[in-house]
Amino acid sequence: MKIFSGTSNLLLAEKIAKNLGLKVSPLDIFVFPDGEKRVRVIDRVVDEHCIVVQPTNLPADNSYMELFFIVDALKRSGAEFVTAIVPYLGYQRQDHIFRDGEAVSLEVIAKTLDSTGLDRLICLDLHSVKIPQVFKISVEHLSALPLFAKRIAILCQQVNNCILISPDMGGIARIKKLSEMIGNFTYAAIEKDRDLTTGNVASKSFGEGRITNQKIAFVVDDMISSGKTISKAAELLKNNGVEKIYVFVTHAIFSDDASQILESAPVEKVFVTDSVYIPKKKHFSKLEILSVADIIAKDLYLRV
Ligand code: R5P
Repeated sequence: MKIFSGTSNLLLAEKIAKNLGLKVSPLDIFVFPDGEKRVRVIDRVVDEHCIVVQPTNLPADNSYMELFFIVDALKRSGAEFVTAIVPYLGYQRQDHIFRDGEAVSLEVIAKTLDSTGLDRLICLDLHSVKIPQVFKISVEHLSALPLFAKRIAILCQQVNNCILISPDMGGIARIKKLSEMIGNFTYAAIEKDRDLTTGNVASKSFGEGRITNQKIAFVVDDMISSGKTISKAAELLKNNGVEKIYVFVTHAIFSDDASQILESAPVEKVFVTDSVYIPKKKHFSKLEILSVADIIAKDLYLRV
């Protein structure tokens, strides 16, 4: 088995490789003055199982093009089986038509990936459990929830009133699962409205479950992009008397001024994973990064 990495999260690729007792194999990724990329495999890969680590976050289009070219180069160089580890799958929120006239972008991505000859895709905490159905190849859906469950259990030791919160109704299945992992924790979901033109968020009320006399709330979501969903949810919880709020989110996309929004939100700490690389300039004092390298490496080890 050989592990390769695109340029979007080399650190994670190195951690996964280390877990498996391997080193990341080199790739020549050359950028022409006009921005086009040329990808070349250096090592011999004939009849090898090749792993490519490349989350497709910001800039999503760039990360995807690189992934397409790496898989194509490996297949043309004789790789027997190619697994792409795409912990954060870009465009996953565009998996259906929200308004007339829109493209189903995820379907276009799936068709293109299928056409590169990719054999298997491994993702982490997908936005919807239906996403694997869009692909023809096998898609494994791993989760950072076990990592979150451990931390939440520690933070809740000797505190009676703790609650799990989904900041929108779409995340209810996620917190139900987490609640079972920790041991039937109380949970509730917020009714959120997002203006599809401006992206602005309004967290209105608690749609499912009740929140009364809660000391600690754990807000759990799949991703943070603008940070608006989390900050509005935190404000609603504070207004309902919650004393401390902790945030647990898998993918730290952190677009625009998300870091500042989160730093000034009424939350104690924001736990995220290293599913995407978070540049130093986007770090803030409340941020803690948990690694998913172990979860991914274990899965690879079991399946090879
Ligand atoms: C939406 O359904 C997702 O689960 C996240 O809540 C959302 O993508 C977060 O986006 P933002 O940080 O821009 O509010």
